[in-house]
Amino acid sequence: MSTYITIALTKGRSLPLSLELLATIGVEPAEDISKSRKLVFDTNREDLKLMVLRGMDVATYVEHGIADLGISGKDVLLEHGGDGYYEPLDLGLAKCQIAVAGLKTEAQLPPRIKVATKFVNIAKRYYAEKAIQVDIIKLYGAMELAPVTGLAHRIVDIVETGNTLKANGLVILEVIEEISTRLIVNKISFKTRYASVQPLIDALEKATT
Ligand code: PRP
Repeated sequence: MSTYITIALTKGRSLPLSLELLATIGVEPAEDISKSRKLVFDTNREDLKLMVLRGMDVATYVEHGIADLGISGKDVLLEHGGDGYYEPLDLGLAKCQIAVAGLKTEAQLPPRIKVATKFVNIAKRYYAEKAIQVDIIKLYGAMELAPVTGLAHRIVDIVETGNTLKANGLVILEVIEEISTRLIVNKISFKTRYASVQPLIDALEKATT
């Protein structure tokens, strides 16, 4: 077992917010992450390292115990699933919603609609719970284009300001989940490295409430 604790961070839009939060609890990367191609970073604390990963991979690395802790969006956690980690804290960063959206003026819908999304599992679960049969079309980005071009009737996507929907003539039809950034902890690390992990959770809790 390594002698240090590893925290996996999500690269992209939320990374500066996560780094800012870590700085408030006295954890800072030893170099400028945004100017480096490295994936693992030393910090000002000898017992702590940071990893910078794609969202879905944060949950996977924490689930397998390669990273002890992770900072990840709830959207990604819902989509990823998995039970190898606890989710002790809502860090309250990067707040948004995951919602069903469609054209402002919808034509008559067929009995079985097409739903475009990159959140295939979330969409499947949502419609299964409602006992509505739909065809899911997996996309990797620019979901808003799907209803506009006729690829799908609806989308399941992240809505933050609502500007992207508006710019494409779409509206929210149903909110599936309120999303924010969460702290996750590997279940084994939580037990075997409690003395190192719990103070970090406590400090983050204090910094976010
Ligand atoms: C997300 C999401 C929407 C947009 C919503 O995309 O998929 O397109 O942000 O934000 P808004 O409500 O503030 O307009 P992102 O920019 O993360 O890129 P992606 O298409 O790669 O997911």
